[in-house]
Amino acid sequence: MHTFSMWKNKKIILAITGGIAAYKMTTLTRLLIKAGAQVQVVMSPEAHTFVTPLTLATLSKNPVLTDFQADKRSGTWNNHVELGLWADIMLIAPATANTLAKMANGLCDNLLMAVYLSARCPVFFAPAMDLDMYQHFSVKQNISKLTTHGNHLIPPAYGELASGLKGEGRLAEPEYIFKELENYWLSQNKSDFWKDKKVMLTAGPTREAIDPVRFISNHSSGKMGYAIANQLAKLGAEVHLISGPSQEVADGNIKIKQVESAQEMYLASIKIFPQCHIAILAAAVSDYTPAEKATKKIKKKSEDMHISLIKTPDIAAELGKIKKQGQCNIGFALETDNELKNAQGKLERKNFDLIVLNSLQDAGAGFGHDTNRIKIIDRKGQIQNFALKSKAEVAQDIINQIEKTYQNP
Ligand SMILES: Cc1cc2nc3c(=O)[nH]c(=O)nc-3n(C[C@H](O)[C@H](O)[C@H](O)COP(=O)(O)O)c2cc1C
Repeated sequence: MHTFSMWKNKKIILAITGGIAAYKMTTLTRLLIKAGAQVQVVMSPEAHTFVTPLTLATLSKNPVLTDFQADKRSGTWNNHVELGLWADIMLIAPATANTLAKMANGLCDNLLMAVYLSARCPVFFAPAMDLDMYQHFSVKQNISKLTTHGNHLIPPAYGELASGLKGEGRLAEPEYIFKELENYWLSQNKSDFWKDKKVMLTAGPTREAIDPVRFISNHSSGKMGYAIANQLAKLGAEVHLISGPSQEVADGNIKIKQVESAQEMYLASIKIFPQCHIAILAAAVSDYTPAEKATKKIKKKSEDMHISLIKTPDIAAELGKIKKQGQCNIGFALETDNELKNAQGKLERKNFDLIVLNSLQDAGAGFGHDTNRIKIIDRKGQIQNFALKSKAEVAQDIINQIEKTYQNP
């Protein structure tokens, strides 16, 4: 279990309302507790129909609050004002159409609403409802009113809904909500540096076609590259993301170009690079590609078969050759042996300003994980070691280092 420094002792009010997606808040509660946050669950009375307070109290390690009065006989009551002041963040998820309407109009007919109206901390809300409900003008107006007044919307996803219909309205996944909150903490250290910076970023694997149905690829998930891209977008940079196939979700402000092969990634990179201040080359680009791509599916014939491979363009090295003053290139190295020596060699050969080294030997680091442990090496040979952290935190460490290097090459 890892406790991430940014989450340690952060106080979260998780306000759950009566939507079918309420059960997903068990997963989110676990994620928050595992990360080191303190969680106080507040439920609307309707939410009890969908998920039990017992489960949430157990997972959050805290009794769940629903009623104004804690004990009618003794007259003890739950102090909504104190709770509202206690929290660092209030998250309302799922937020029903009903609760959104109450929030937008200042109604206060349950404890959850009283806490919302008393909260001085940032408020996030994640609506979830059927697609027609979500499209209704009154729901749209309520959401718009809430965001205009500074509440943070975590938009619903597109997908299958409890009604069986397909569309927009599905609660954002707990992992996504968690990342949104994490990005919020990180963006609190905002500097103006990124506001006028154009950054190109490559991420994910490439696919080298053998025939129309087969390809050569690697295990890269794109998680690290997307985490950096999303964080940079939040900091105000103009981000051009050139992405190989990946399941990750890019911030709405990112200009994204989807590619498949190393050659396509190379052409897209070489086109945008001259206009960029910074190039972050986080993609795991295939070094070789089949010399010939069969136009029809290759049939099984003999016992063994051979595919002749040729080198793909070395994107990082090519960009390194045309790099001008005022541009800064950052590379990544994933090594299995002689890590430091190999990474330093790569830094020189490819004319990087910084190289981020992650080791496959560290548990929790590398492909597909949500965590990473990195070292950053600069041209002066200085090596910085970082602890195992979430990829969002690692992204911020890398971003901080790039900012320093750019200003002080
Ligand atoms: C099975 C079922 C599922 C529901 N799912 C949702 C939903 O996903 N989103 C929503 O806005 N309302 C949903 N509702 C309606 C709300 O439960 C209802 O509006 C309730 O008054 C909400 O109260 P609250 O906002 O105080 O929790 C659902 C109702 C039922 C019976």
